[in-house]
Amino acid sequence: MEIYLEKQQITSVIDALKSKNRTIGIVPTMGALHEGHLQLVKKALADNDKVVVSIFVNPTQFDNDEDLVKYPRTLDRDVALLETVSKTDILVYSPSVDDIYGGNTVSQEFDFDGLEFEMEGKFRHGHFDGVGTIVKRFFDIVKPHNGYFGEKDFQQLAIIKKLVEKYEIPVKIIGCKIHREANGLAMSSRNTRLKPEYKAVAPFIYKTLITAKEKFGTKSATKVMEWVEKQFAKHDLLELEYFIIADAKTLKPIKRKLNKKAYRAFIAVYADDIRLIDNIALN
Ligand code: PAF
Repeated sequence: MEIYLEKQQITSVIDALKSKNRTIGIVPTMGALHEGHLQLVKKALADNDKVVVSIFVNPTQFDNDEDLVKYPRTLDRDVALLETVSKTDILVYSPSVDDIYGGNTVSQEFDFDGLEFEMEGKFRHGHFDGVGTIVKRFFDIVKPHNGYFGEKDFQQLAIIKKLVEKYEIPVKIIGCKIHREANGLAMSSRNTRLKPEYKAVAPFIYKTLITAKEKFGTKSATKVMEWVEKQFAKHDLLELEYFIIADAKTLKPIKRKLNKKAYRAFIAVYADDIRLIDNIALN
């Protein structure tokens, strides 16, 4: 499998592929790949001739230096995993910080019509400017036809859709369902850092979302939120950061349910010092 470390290398390969009318998909990742990423890559391979998997731990989207330092970096293992999917049609782009930021490691400032101020935006200052900056840069470098993102980061997916709309970037954004462990825990690169006792209790997050969904059928959003807060207040190991029921389009927390609107519940939980997020469609 070809691994490209510099943008000049990947752009010349992409130019050659495009001159032969090949379709290109991109799956942006920060590495530490798991089955959830592989599902995105498989979907991208089904839709495109070639798929670029970027592996880059993007410093500008971290608001916490320790989290950035501790983020798992496992390039050899990632490449081996990707080779189990395809040895011929995946191009790995794993640039250095300098290759991407050229000595100026700062985010561009974006206006995502308010989507950036909800949930993760409230708790991770500057996060979505960092995500917007890196994803826009990858789109500029790779010029893919299609981009694949997981629904686990549902707010990120909404923001990337907004990014391509506002900047008229000709990339089709495809959202893919959350991939879960057999016990329901949403797959995440952060799961590898969970100590065993936290790994054992982490499926409680998804279990709570399922019950919240059932309750939302008959109860108000406020009542469901109160119920979830109580469940975590009683929990010895997991600490709730937020649970929000929001309009699935605007991502704004709802005051009351309206017919014909799609709603989604979003949750962020600390398991020790590991922050886990998840979400579920409510109707
Ligand atoms: O979802 C992620 O892993 C990252 O936010 C992304 C989209 C690769 C940008 O760094």
